[in-house]
Amino acid sequence: EKKKEQAVVISQEQLADGIYSMWIRTEASRAAKPGQFLSLYTNDGTKLLPRPISICEIDAENGSLRVVYRVTGEHTGTESFSQMKAGDTIPVIGPLGNGFPLERAAGKKVFLMGGGIGVPPILELAKQLECEEKQILAGYRDQQTFLKEEFEQNGTLYISTEDGSVGTKGNVMDVIRENGLEADIIYACGPTPMLRAIKQYAEEQNIECYISLEERMACGIGACLACVCKSKEKDHHSNVNNKRICKDGPVFLSTEVEI
Ligand code: FES
Repeated sequence: EKKKEQAVVISQEQLADGIYSMWIRTEASRAAKPGQFLSLYTNDGTKLLPRPISICEIDAENGSLRVVYRVTGEHTGTESFSQMKAGDTIPVIGPLGNGFPLERAAGKKVFLMGGGIGVPPILELAKQLECEEKQILAGYRDQQTFLKEEFEQNGTLYISTEDGSVGTKGNVMDVIRENGLEADIIYACGPTPMLRAIKQYAEEQNIECYISLEERMACGIGACLACVCKSKEKDHHSNVNNKRICKDGPVFLSTEVEI
């Protein structure tokens, strides 16, 4: 089991309505991989369980990590993270989870698909992935297309917005249709309806597809059981075998899980 560690806030910045970016100095940066996450505790002790936050960028050389996260409401753990300033300390556990299998992309045409607060983990993946063609599909609500510049430096970026203000009107699946895009392998992170559509598309087209179900986690450390999902793997006792997203994931081969 990993131990709690005191990370130090390097910088904090608001990127869009309710979306914040924080760089922290942490030992977790040394071993972190794209698609993994940290669980962050609040300092005041009012919340017993930590909040899982996905890793957006890794700077192992400088021992730091970037997390980009959404504040989920007033008096929440994420709100208290957003009020932290450079020099403050924050208890963290990590890196946690399994991350995306990068080696599967070698020589392939790739879709990197992110939606909403599932967009940030796609950035470090885009930076590290070595493949034939890197197509990044990022879905947002409106013109607040956070991380756009970073994505443009790491692949061919296609944007969708729900209100049609930037890029394709609709979602990342509409981007595929509108631009006639193709891929041999998919990596995706985002809300469940988006992942469900991607999983279905990948299965119809027979494309290898990895999805991160991180949105469905609550504590990230195996303590709350909010993240149990059905697996298609059968064992000899029953027809289904439940998986805990925070322990067995958050990244799964799409055909492995029911969502
Ligand atoms: Fe709490 Fe998995 S997120 S047990």
